[in-house]
Amino acid sequence: MGKKLFIKHKYNSFNQTVLVDGDKSISIRALLLASQAHGKTLIENILLSEDIINSINCLKKLGIKIYLNKKKCYVFGNGINGFNYKKNIVLDAGNSGTFARLILGLLIKSPYYIKLIGDKSLSRRDFGRVILPLREIGANFKVGIKKTLPIKIIGANSVNPIRYYENRGSAQCKSTVMLAALNSPGQTIINAKKSRDHTENIFKHLGIPISIHKKENTDEIKIDGQKNFKSFNYIVPSDPSSCAFLIVLTLLSKNCELKIKDVNVNQSRIGFIKILNRMGANIKINNIKERYGEKRADIQVKSQSNLKKIDCPPRLNSNLIDEFLIIFLVAAKARGISSFSKLDELDKKESPRLKLGSKLLNQIGIRTILKKNSIKIFGNPKIKIERSINISQYYKDHRIFMTSVVAACTFGGNWRINDPDSYKSSFPSFLKILKQLGYKFKITK
Ligand code: S3P
Repeated sequence: MGKKLFIKHKYNSFNQTVLVDGDKSISIRALLLASQAHGKTLIENILLSEDIINSINCLKKLGIKIYLNKKKCYVFGNGINGFNYKKNIVLDAGNSGTFARLILGLLIKSPYYIKLIGDKSLSRRDFGRVILPLREIGANFKVGIKKTLPIKIIGANSVNPIRYYENRGSAQCKSTVMLAALNSPGQTIINAKKSRDHTENIFKHLGIPISIHKKENTDEIKIDGQKNFKSFNYIVPSDPSSCAFLIVLTLLSKNCELKIKDVNVNQSRIGFIKILNRMGANIKINNIKERYGEKRADIQVKSQSNLKKIDCPPRLNSNLIDEFLIIFLVAAKARGISSFSKLDELDKKESPRLKLGSKLLNQIGIRTILKKNSIKIFGNPKIKIERSINISQYYKDHRIFMTSVVAACTFGGNWRINDPDSYKSSFPSFLKILKQLGYKFKITK
């Protein structure tokens, strides 16, 4: 049968300040770059989620010494390409698409085949998108025709700096090539559709030779390779993608107020705040500070019953790619018909999120028109669920799980959700914070 989470909605109101776990994208990048730096790096407030634990275990298999002491992580790097390669290494990335794709960039000089595996969800995701540029740089792969895991990578003796066009708006593809550029002689040039820019920011912060020419829809990034850099100290801010669930929980509840401290508010990550504010929310970003080239701030949100529909501009898609599910839930309660388009990437995430997001809305009585890469959501400001809702078969997608929990806490109904550990891949404190806010759950085996 497996474990299940049961939630029966009860009216709850709160006015609290909370701390959310560290940013996943930044934690993974800090680990990967620390593994290529010279000397001892200290990463504080690192996210201690399953994705990060898997990332740490993989780096250890490549000979990097890493010690964790609560949320402090010490990494002993041996310089660029300082991995201790052995025969028959198997790296298990678990659920982490970001780690699995980015690490391939750093294996560009491996003298032996390294096998990369992942869980059921990661094993259905496309790796062709990073295999293509890495082959051009010099790597060889053993991979099936679907270009999914498991795959084997072997590096090259001589690596080529390439000119790469990234046109999906994928930070993972861009970053994989940026990491490979560390090992490439000469200059790698990347023309990338806009996407989160944490890799660029940490390269700059570490003094890795990088120049960025920003254009309207793309960035031209130039990296000079084979330049060693020193170890560093980094304090990871809170993850805005995790905060999004608590922000929407507050927004859709009655008489609630929430402050979240020290959140990553990089412009390429807070598209969801812009969209929610356009829908009638009043989310405030206070005390903005800059550290390591990244902006961080406190976020303040209050409940709002008068929400209106949105026609989401597709140019923002990459900036809110991880928040669509939870925004769909806001659209379910908003006045009018919301529309979202050009969502091709959404079905390529931890689960086919466009399809499953639509299915979840239908289960709670919301009408949708679902097309191949777009959705229209017919909002109902009076939404109130009085039935039993069962959530199963969702590839243990952490964001489907958390969206379902927020729906249960705000719209009512008797909910039974399978795989109640799935949130632990990105936001391990999620249920603990909800309990702190006064919600009650029952988890049964
Ligand atoms: C991420 C990039 C995004 C995002 C993922 C994290 C990153 O994926 O969905 O959760 O840290 O680079 P894509 O690059 O595939 O859009």
